[in-house]
Amino acid sequence: MSDSFSANPLRDPRDKRLPRIPEPCALVIFGVTGDLARKKLIPAIYDLANRGLLPASFVVLGFARRVWGDDTFEDVAREAAMEHARTPWREEVWNRLNGHFKFIQGTFEDDEAFDRLNDELNALSESHGIAGNAAFYFSIPPAAFPVVLNQLERTGMADNSHSGGWRRVVVEKPFGHDQESAQDLNTLVDQAFTPQDVYRIDHYLGKETVQNIFALRFANAMFEPIWNSNFVDHVQITMAEDVGIGTRAGFYDSAGAARDVLQNHLLQLLAITAMEQPVGFEAEEIRTEKLKVLRAVTLPDDLDADAIRGQYAPGWVEGKPVAGYLDEDNVPAESSTETYAAVKLGIQNRRWNGVPFYLRTGKRLPKRTTEIAVIFKEAPHMPFADFDTQILGHNQLVIRVQPDEGVTVKFGSKVPGTGMEIRDINMSFSYGEAFTESSPEAYERLILDVLLGDKTLFPDAAEVDASWRIIDPLEEYWGTTKPERYAAGSWGPEKADLMLHATGRRWRRP
Ligand code: BG6
Repeated sequence: MSDSFSANPLRDPRDKRLPRIPEPCALVIFGVTGDLARKKLIPAIYDLANRGLLPASFVVLGFARRVWGDDTFEDVAREAAMEHARTPWREEVWNRLNGHFKFIQGTFEDDEAFDRLNDELNALSESHGIAGNAAFYFSIPPAAFPVVLNQLERTGMADNSHSGGWRRVVVEKPFGHDQESAQDLNTLVDQAFTPQDVYRIDHYLGKETVQNIFALRFANAMFEPIWNSNFVDHVQITMAEDVGIGTRAGFYDSAGAARDVLQNHLLQLLAITAMEQPVGFEAEEIRTEKLKVLRAVTLPDDLDADAIRGQYAPGWVEGKPVAGYLDEDNVPAESSTETYAAVKLGIQNRRWNGVPFYLRTGKRLPKRTTEIAVIFKEAPHMPFADFDTQILGHNQLVIRVQPDEGVTVKFGSKVPGTGMEIRDINMSFSYGEAFTESSPEAYERLILDVLLGDKTLFPDAAEVDASWRIIDPLEEYWGTTKPERYAAGSWGPEKADLMLHATGRRWRRP
């Protein structure tokens, strides 16, 4: 909450409906020449400026190895924003950002470059009135975190008591490689910054449709009474991508689908779907409930049957032949990294006991789609003849996270006619139809929240730790096996289908 709001006696500081504008500040991006900065961060900055949500004194400082000057950085940033921004291009918006891009050239080992960055930030307090406020965004490989953190500590840049303003650090996922490395990294981050100033990004929490799960569950009367093991048969959480790994072999081959997506995005979706109602909607209150769920998650007894990983082989996507994972650039020929992971998890608490949560993610699947499907039990008794309900499935509530954002409810209805045939129909809500305003990109929301100091949508250290506790044994087991092969463009390994068939269930085909 910024002081300007608390100074307004007419405004309740918890009222987040009106635009909230951060105090003057700088955003320092490490790894600014990378894909994330070009495709997501810079465009999000433009979108925020376009929506009038940035302070007039706002400076972007890029730090990277390339020999660029401020002008080149600004040109590249402009191109990235023009190409990837969500909102329409307006020259006058960019002109307002013009002159607010600074580039610092250097490597992460280069003390002198970090001293220059420090000097620049100090100078900006004078020239642009940023009053020492700065957020440091780590858009860099996890292996580089320690050295950059050391530099920020060495120069005093991480210390808000020196700078006179706030200092925050934003760390991209995956946070660590396993539970132990995440704990080590935490110690390092907490040495440099105060824990409340550490923002761990999981961009799925910035998505409107994910935040809408809170609204759906806790602002309505009709869903919560049936949101438990009395009524729910199982839950399927799917994040499918049609793309391959692109040019990210360097990162991806050492991570794999479980560390890249399961450990963070999917477990966060599970936590929000399964958590109890928080006492309020403040960061701490939400995290308390998410953490309780993550801590109650159990792995299946039979990992061979219920924890499946796969790797894409050559195949076809949208009518075009595509290479297998092992043929992608810079992937080692013998790699056994998974590009698909599916697992059956349990949640040991009163609400969910006995309800499996099936999580799956994969690259080179038939389409890009993320959804959470709550599959209900059959009606306890049906007074119809068997053949009347032959094609009736289970009731489902599907939260369509992307790309066709919305919610679908699937239930049985009588087929018009003289008989009593009942079959599934869909009732759908679509963001595109219900609202005139298009949803902000996740990174717009999250960058803004960092600058405002609002941690509601950021997982904390304990959540990250609890998530690694779930992933580590899976990784350990998978380390002893080879991934199943699946053809690019298919829905993943057959063994993942068998995992559900074994209990008479099947994956949805979104
Ligand atoms: C990232 C993963 O976190 O999420 C990528 O590292 C993945 O591998 C991406 O492609 C997908 O994000 P979205 O928002 O397009 O679903």
